[in-house]
Amino acid sequence: MLTVAVVGAGLMGRGIAGVFAGAGHPVRLHDVDADALHRAVDGLRGSERPVDGSTDLATAVSGADLVIEAVTENLPAKRDLFARLDGLLPEALLASNTSVLPVSAIAERATRPERVVGTHWWNPPHLVPVVEVVRGEYTGEETMERTTDLLASLGKLPVRVERDVPGFVGNRLQHALWREAVALVEHGVCTAETVETVVRNTIGLRLAAMGPLENADYVGLDLTLAIHEAVLPALDRSPAPSRLLRDLVAAGDVGAKSGRGFFTWPHGSRERAGEGLARHIARQLATAPDTPDGGPDGRPTGHPH
Ligand SMILES: NC(=O)c1ccc[n+]([C@@H]2O[C@H](COP(=O)([O-])OP(=O)(O)OC[C@H]3O[C@@H](n4cnc5c(N)ncnc54)[C@H](O)[C@@H]3O)[C@@H](O)[C@H]2O)c1
Repeated sequence: MLTVAVVGAGLMGRGIAGVFAGAGHPVRLHDVDADALHRAVDGLRGSERPVDGSTDLATAVSGADLVIEAVTENLPAKRDLFARLDGLLPEALLASNTSVLPVSAIAERATRPERVVGTHWWNPPHLVPVVEVVRGEYTGEETMERTTDLLASLGKLPVRVERDVPGFVGNRLQHALWREAVALVEHGVCTAETVETVVRNTIGLRLAAMGPLENADYVGLDLTLAIHEAVLPALDRSPAPSRLLRDLVAAGDVGAKSGRGFFTWPHGSRERAGEGLARHIARQLATAPDTPDGGPDGRPTGHPH
């Protein structure tokens, strides 16, 4: 068993702590906000026993073999934290759950940055199988291997991201789609409802079973090439967030949190949406193939490129 410290006891930190504790690893939580820390520790203690917490960083991480950082997405704060962790723990593996910040920049002030790695968990962390293991500029191969082995031992599906590019893999793919979705509404091609109806009833049905590259092979790369020749010049290529998105945010219409965004969100609907999403993911996982290569006979497994 490893002693694991989770720094930041919010939505993600709490969930990640629960995954380690559930696998029997002693877990220590730390948060600068005493209320957030106590809520997280109390919540986890109900189901998982090896969980403790402290608002003092040095106390919480003392003796840790692994630290997972899940504090607010803020580069200076994360950089300071990793400099402190580096001084407190000369040997431990140090992982950041940043969504989009460069792992290399977070590790910059560590004296041994080869043990700093990105571990990008997805919400909800106890359900979503993939964790992206991100190699920063300084991350050592041993760190990459220890991290992927450890995540696999928890039943997760670690994937290696070999370059520290913004958004890693999953968020780049996701936000390529979201940019186009916003642009379609902004330019009056269709309503926000239509975007949802189309995505949920076409590509959304397919994606969990067949990703884009296998799908391209399946329909034919010649067809894919012809489609790209016709459609790529017309897709949104803005290098900045759209005017529509900026205007909504400037008006305070930030979505479920404020009650209005692309849609109207009555009181309680945000919580219901989160619960419904978690139930849907759990149902999908219960029926999905359980091997990374797909499972059913005849599925392609080679990686020629
Ligand atoms: N929410 C998601 O879906 C999601 C998914 C993947 C990755 N992430 C990333 O995970 C990290 C945490 O996100 P979250 O959604 O759990 O945020 P959150 O706001 O729910 O929790 C962050 C916690 O960190 C604490 N904190 C802030 N600064 C701190 C510091 N210096 N030391 C100790 N504690 C500190 C806050 O008090 C808060 O409790 C972010 O980097 C985020 O980008 C979030």
